[in-house]
Parts: sequence; C-alpha cells; structure tokens
Amino acid sequence: MTDRICSSDALKEKGLSVRFEHSSLALPAFVIRYEGKVYAYQNRCPHRGTELDWEPGEVLDGDGEFLICATHGALFQPTTGLCVMGPCKGASLQFIPVVEVDGSVKLTDV
Ligand code: FES
Repeated sequence: MTDRICSSDALKEKGLSVRFEHSSLALPAFVIRYEGKVYAYQNRCPHRGTELDWEPGEVLDGDGEFLICATHGALFQPTTGLCVMGPCKGASLQFIPVVEVDGSVKLTDV
C-alpha cells in the first residue's frame, strides 16, 4: 500500500523538506531530496524529542550536507538519519520508507 506525500517536483535537491504526517502512525515527519534520492524521517530529534526545523521545512544545515536539529545543533546523515555530531551522537532519526514513482513521492508500508 502506498500513500502519496507530494509531487517529485516539490522536493528540490538539498532544498526545503516537505512535512507530512505518517498516515497510520500519526507521527510528524518530513521528506527531503539528497543527492537525487528521497529520504523520510520522523520529525523528532532523539535528544529531546523536538522537531528539527529551523523554520517550517528547513532541516538541512547551511551547506546542505547534514540534517540539523534547531534546538541544540545535532547533525544527522541525510542518507541514514545517524547522528554524527551533537548531544545524541550515535542515535538515529526514525527512518520512514518512501518511494518515488511516476512523479510522486509515496509512503510505503513495509
Ligand atoms: S533536541 Fe535536538 S540536539 Fe537537542
């Protein structure tokens, strides 16, 4: 089963994320495009549980290389969600599987 999140065009390379709510878990989440692929995570920092965004949809650092938590600045690998620097180093964002098909980004239930 798949649920549509957004059109492929809505996600620019290392641009703003698209926020969405996981349809079955009712969790705030976001999806980004990084190096051509789409990645989605629960929008909850493993340190204190806050959402990552600086401003709505802004979850990448200034260089567009890492996801960054606005609260204390933890950095996460966009491709894995692993925290590589900050107070929750070694912890991970909750990965949400998504696919990009026929111009749409869709949630995939696994
Ligand atoms: S709440 Fe994210 S780094 Fe502290």
